[in-house]
Amino acid sequence: MANLTRMPAVVIDNGTGYTKMGYAINSQPQFIIPSAIAVKEGVGVRTARGLDDLDFFIGDEAMNATGYSVKYPIRHGLVNDWDLMEKYWEQCIFKYLKCEPEDHYFLLTEPPLNTPENREYTAEIMFESFNVPGLYIAVQAVLALVASWTSRSAGDQSLTGVVIDSGDGVTHVIPIADGYVIGSCIKHIPISGRDITYFIQGLLKDREVGIPPEQSLETAKAIKEQYCYVCQDIVKEFNKYETNPNKWIKKYQSLNNITKQPFAVDVGYERFLGPEIFFHPEFSNPDYTESLSHIVDNVIQNCPIDTRRALYKNIVLSGGSTMFKDFDKRLKMEIKRSVDDRLNLNANSRVKPQPIDVQVISHHMQRYAVWFGGSLMATTSEFYEKSHTKAEYYEYGPSICRHNPVFGKMS
Ligand SMILES: Nc1ncnc2c1ncn2[C@@H]1O[C@H](COP(=O)(O)OP(=O)(O)OP(=O)(O)O)[C@@H](O)[C@H]1O
Ligand SMILES: [Mg+2]
Repeated sequence: MANLTRMPAVVIDNGTGYTKMGYAINSQPQFIIPSAIAVKEGVGVRTARGLDDLDFFIGDEAMNATGYSVKYPIRHGLVNDWDLMEKYWEQCIFKYLKCEPEDHYFLLTEPPLNTPENREYTAEIMFESFNVPGLYIAVQAVLALVASWTSRSAGDQSLTGVVIDSGDGVTHVIPIADGYVIGSCIKHIPISGRDITYFIQGLLKDREVGIPPEQSLETAKAIKEQYCYVCQDIVKEFNKYETNPNKWIKKYQSLNNITKQPFAVDVGYERFLGPEIFFHPEFSNPDYTESLSHIVDNVIQNCPIDTRRALYKNIVLSGGSTMFKDFDKRLKMEIKRSVDDRLNLNANSRVKPQPIDVQVISHHMQRYAVWFGGSLMATTSEFYEKSHTKAEYYEYGPSICRHNPVFGKMS
C-alpha cells in the first residue's frame, strides 16, 4: 500500500465526445481522444464480458479505421455499452498510458445523475478485469469546482458553487454546497457542443455550396471551435456585420479529403448565432425555449435560501462548450439582470434587500476542468482515504461503490 500510494494515480474522464486521460500531478491530460471505438462487425466472439478479439481501435485511430464500424460507448454522459467500455479502457490503459493498472490507484469520473448500477459495473471492471488496487469515482461537477481554484487566491477555495458543465453531449447545471451535490436541484438542458455543430452545419448548408457534403460536419465543428463567440446583444451584432462586413466575416479554408482541392467558406452570422442557442434555444429546437441564464437562476432559486448568495457568487464554467469567448460575460449580465429585477420588486418592503454579487468564473483550465480537478484531487491524502480498495471490494462486493457520498446520506 505504501508503495502504491506513491505511484501517481491514473485519472480518466470519459466524456460523450472525448476522453481525457493522464496521471495525477500533471496539469494537462496526456491524451485527449474521441470516445469512439472501431470494431469489426460480427468478428468478435462475445464472451461473458465483451469481445474476445483484439482487433479494434479507439480514439482518432477508430475514426480513421476503414472496414470497421465506429461506436460510441457513452451517450449523453452515461455509459450505454459496458462491453465496449471495457475494451475502450483496456486500450486507454495498455496502449495509451502504457501502465500496469495493478500499480496505480484510479480516479474515474461520473456525470451528476449516474446510476448506482453503473457505479457497480465500473467497480467490477476496474477491480476484476484490471485488478486496480484502489478506485475513486468522482462527480464531474465537484472536480470542476476544485479546478476553478486555480483562478483564485489560496484562501478562497470554496466547495460551494454552481457548475455549468457543457461538453459534447450534455449540459448540466449543478449546485454544490460544502462539497455536497444538491441532487434534487440539478438541471440539464438539451443543448451542448454537438447541437451547436449541427446548427452551424444547417446554417452553412443553406448558403455555402463549396463544402464537400461528407465533410460538412467536421467543417462546421472546426468553424465553431475557431470562429464562434458569444455576443452581448444579437441585434447590435447583426448591425455590426452589416456596416462593416470585412471586419467580421472570416474565411475558413480547408482541403477536400478526396480530391485534395482547397475549398473556402465565408463565415458570417454563424460566428455568434451558433452559441446563441444557449440563450435562445428555440433557434434550433422549437420545443425548448428556456435560456441557460434562466436555468442557472432557477436552479439557485430552488436551492436552500442560506446557500443562494454563495452560489450566485461562484458560478463556475467547465467543458469544451463553455470555451466561447465572452460566454461568461453574457451569462453574468443576464443572471444579474434577473436577480436585480427580483430585488427591485421587493424594494418597497420594510427590510431593504442587500445587493447580490453575481460572478461567473472562467479560468485557463476550463476546457479540461473535470480532468484537471481530478488530477489535483488524486494527489491528496483524502483521495487515498476515500478510495475503495481491492481488499474492500473482495470483502464486500461491488455494492461498496453503489452510493457516492457527495450526494449526501441515502435515506
Ligand atoms: N474552443 C472551443 N470553442 C467551442 N467549443 C469547443 C472548443 N473546443 C472544444 N469545443 C467543443 O467542446 C465539446 C467537447 O467538450 P468536452 O471534452 O468537455 O466534452 P465531453 O466531456 O466529451 O462530453 P460530455 O461532458 O457532454 O459528456 C465538443 O463539442 C467540441 O467541439
Ligand atoms: Mg465531460
